[in-house]
Amino acid sequence: MTNPYLATAIEIAREAGQVLREEFTRPADISYKAEWDLVTQADKRAEAAIVTALQKNFPGHAVAAEEGSGRDTTSEFRWHVDPLDGTTNFAHGYPCFAVSIALAQKEKLIAGVVYNPIYEELFAAALGEGAMLNGKKISVSKIATLKTSLLCTGFPNHKREAHPNIHYYWDFTLRSHGVRRDGSAALDLASVAAGRFDGFWEFGLKPWDTAAGVLLVQEAGGKITDLQGEPYPLGGRTILASNGIIHEEMKNLAAEAAKRSAPAGVK
Ligand code: IPD
Ligand code: CA
Ligand code: CA
Repeated sequence: MTNPYLATAIEIAREAGQVLREEFTRPADISYKAEWDLVTQADKRAEAAIVTALQKNFPGHAVAAEEGSGRDTTSEFRWHVDPLDGTTNFAHGYPCFAVSIALAQKEKLIAGVVYNPIYEELFAAALGEGAMLNGKKISVSKIATLKTSLLCTGFPNHKREAHPNIHYYWDFTLRSHGVRRDGSAALDLASVAAGRFDGFWEFGLKPWDTAAGVLLVQEAGGKITDLQGEPYPLGGRTILASNGIIHEEMKNLAAEAAKRSAPAGVK
């Protein structure tokens, strides 16, 4: 790939991955942002490494980073950084987590990297140049029906008791080969891009959770909308990602689940 931003983002993701690998060998140092929302020393160390490197390489660019160490500028370039997507997995020793780094120019995503440092899997995409896993081109699956698909979703760390997604989970589980819940939205989207999952949906994700994964899915030939089939704005309330072929079926089933489930006002 020729995108110069992507090359630097890959380098920086690998450095942050090295930090996560080191931290993963130590007992997790957990604190709580809210009752169910964990943060560890690893999130903070990895974010510091990424933000410092981005500022050194691209001094004028804005950086939106989950743990708050980024900075706003007037630049039309904005980096979306999740230094550790899958903190709960990390804290429990489950090796399903990733560094996620993406660059947007105005509203357009132009480069994205998702890196699982334990499995040493690096997913990368550049606008108009396709998507790769460890340097090899990837594409979404060709699964043609919802009933033969393998899906994935996630649940937010807050409002668990009242969250409507449990009803969607129920419906999609009964109408597919199954629904996985891996705990890292960035890797979930990367897995759709690589054809491992045929579809993914979730509520309440932030721009740093989805930015790199959205570009991966689009560049791998898949489709991204919200659960109503409308364009997905980064940080939108819902996201629906698929291989494109089963998108309509997923959207229709989501509409059925919505009618039966959503308590008023749940975000
Ligand atoms: C979380 C993961 C998880 C999703 C949560 C996110 P974090 O990010 O992406 O899969 O279900 O909504 O908050 O907190 O581990 O960076
Ligand atoms: Ca995240
Ligand atoms: Ca995170």
